[in-house]
Amino acid sequence: MKKLLFAGLLGTIITAGAAFPTMAQADEASDNAAVENRKMLMDGIGGAMGTLGCYMKGECTLPDPVLANLAKGIAFSAGAAPAAFEPQTPDASVKTTASADIWTNWDDFSGRFPEMQQAALALADAVGDKGAMGAAMGNLGKSCKGCHDEFRTK
Ligand code: HEC
Repeated sequence: MKKLLFAGLLGTIITAGAAFPTMAQADEASDNAAVENRKMLMDGIGGAMGTLGCYMKGECTLPDPVLANLAKGIAFSAGAAPAAFEPQTPDASVKTTASADIWTNWDDFSGRFPEMQQAALALADAVGDKGAMGAAMGNLGKSCKGCHDEFRTK
């Protein structure tokens, strides 16, 4: 009887031990997915900024509605960003430049996205007036740089 109990207990320990690496793998996979997701969000923003920059420099010709939609796409991404950055990703093995300060200073970090969104909407409103667009692009660019300086590792 005692032997049976011991065998049963041992079985439980072995099962618990075997479950552990599986759980660690699941954390790594979900953390990697969260990192890739927020990087794609930022790459979409970066692509839109790059296209707008191409127009501002006179290297690309784009119709006004397209310019406005690029700015609105940035505004939408700013709204989606807090949820994309909320999960902490300590087990990620893919490259990330997100600083751990994001989650210890969450209010500061996440509070920058509404400002970025306002700047992007102001840019959309400025379409049609290249001078006003230049000023709005400058403001939007400052919000990118301000956060990257503070919350990205090199
Ligand atoms: C409130 C903070 C914040 C703001 C505002 C912000 N970013 Fe980011 N951005 C980040 C963080 C954090 C990362 C690093 C993400 C990672 O590597 O996990 C990042 C990464 C990026 C990347 C690299 C993505 C990759 O694939 O590694 C690009 C491009 C980018 N941002 C563009 C922009 C542009 C353009 C703006 C402004 C229009 C902007 N970001 C505004 C926080 C911000």
